[in-house]
Amino acid sequence: MQAQVSICEVSKDSARAARWRNSFQICFAKTHRMVRFNCILIDKQSVDDLKKEVRLQMSDQYFFDKVILITGASSGIGWATALALAPFRPRLVLAARREPLLRDLAALIQNQCQVIVLPLDVSDFDQVTKAVEQVLQQWGQIDFLINNAGIIANARFHEQSIDEIEKLLRVNYLGAVAMTHAVLPGMLKQNWGHIVNVSSIGGMTGFPYISAYCGSKFAMVGWTEALRREYYGTGVTFTSFCPGTVDTPMIAASLKNERFKKVTRQRTPEQVAQRIVKCCRNRTREAIYGEIPSFVMKAARFFPAIVDLFFFQVYRRVHPLARECREKND
Ligand SMILES: NC(=O)c1ccc[n+]([C@@H]2O[C@H](COP(=O)([O-])OP(=O)(O)OC[C@H]3O[C@@H](n4cnc5c(N)ncnc54)[C@H](OP(=O)(O)O)[C@@H]3O)[C@@H](O)[C@H]2O)c1
Repeated sequence: MQAQVSICEVSKDSARAARWRNSFQICFAKTHRMVRFNCILIDKQSVDDLKKEVRLQMSDQYFFDKVILITGASSGIGWATALALAPFRPRLVLAARREPLLRDLAALIQNQCQVIVLPLDVSDFDQVTKAVEQVLQQWGQIDFLINNAGIIANARFHEQSIDEIEKLLRVNYLGAVAMTHAVLPGMLKQNWGHIVNVSSIGGMTGFPYISAYCGSKFAMVGWTEALRREYYGTGVTFTSFCPGTVDTPMIAASLKNERFKKVTRQRTPEQVAQRIVKCCRNRTREAIYGEIPSFVMKAARFFPAIVDLFFFQVYRRVHPLARECREKND
């Protein structure tokens, strides 16, 4: 992608206002789209350095030779993300439990980039630590981590066992925590790194019949936000990525239900993968990408009674579990 980038210092007054942080406040814009980025504070960094960095971000060279670890790469969004990144010639680490699928993916992209296949279960924390050590031994660094591995469970909360719920939290939330815990020290040492935590719109608002899943995804959003603030200024940045419904094996069963399918406008894994690549490029803090616009997701917080009623009315018509409960009660 070629882009003309212009960077300008903001007025002296604004710079003075920002000086209490020993910082320069700089605005920059992608002139080709006339999109103004958010103002950012940069410590003792010259405008020239910033220009260089922004041009690199926009160029095809940005991912070149970077080590990118993707969990849950054997299917769906993870698989599509690896395919989307491969043409930029990074060094890809593909992690998931099903090794044969990872090998199939590696065979598809190995003429574009170097690949390590890393069979692992993210809920086994020893395996995670050893796997990261193996990558560091072989390639010496990890530049991007995409915590994408996840599972879902459709059930009424009180009918699920605590073991099932614990398993889900171990994969979706603690798996990402363990992975980040193993990778982050290396990133801090190199003063550079970006971590994308794939949460969900279920991590922004609660959806019925997937309460354990929503719990894990809410945890991910809050944890990412805290990390972003804790490691501010270290060179390591974090994205909380919240997609809506995506047509992958994870929700294939739900999408077989015609009524449910009608009320969702699911994205393809390829569309979502492009968004993840964009988040890595721009080091986006938070991205909501789905059928419900992000401002609606955020506004929903302020109107819980309306949103509860909305879910009740929609789900009782379209969701198989809600209909089952209604029929039992009738
Ligand atoms: N599909 C959607 O509508 C949707 C919406 C919002 C968010 N998301 C999130 O997007 C992420 C990817 O989901 P997807 O839709 O692409 O689903 P998917 O096609 O089922 O892929 C899930 C991936 O996670 C891996 N995985 C599951 N358990 C694992 C474990 N214990 N250790 C390592 N890897 C594990 C799976 O690989 P193995 O089975 O080979 O281990 C698979 O590669 C998930 O975090 C999901 O919550 C999905």
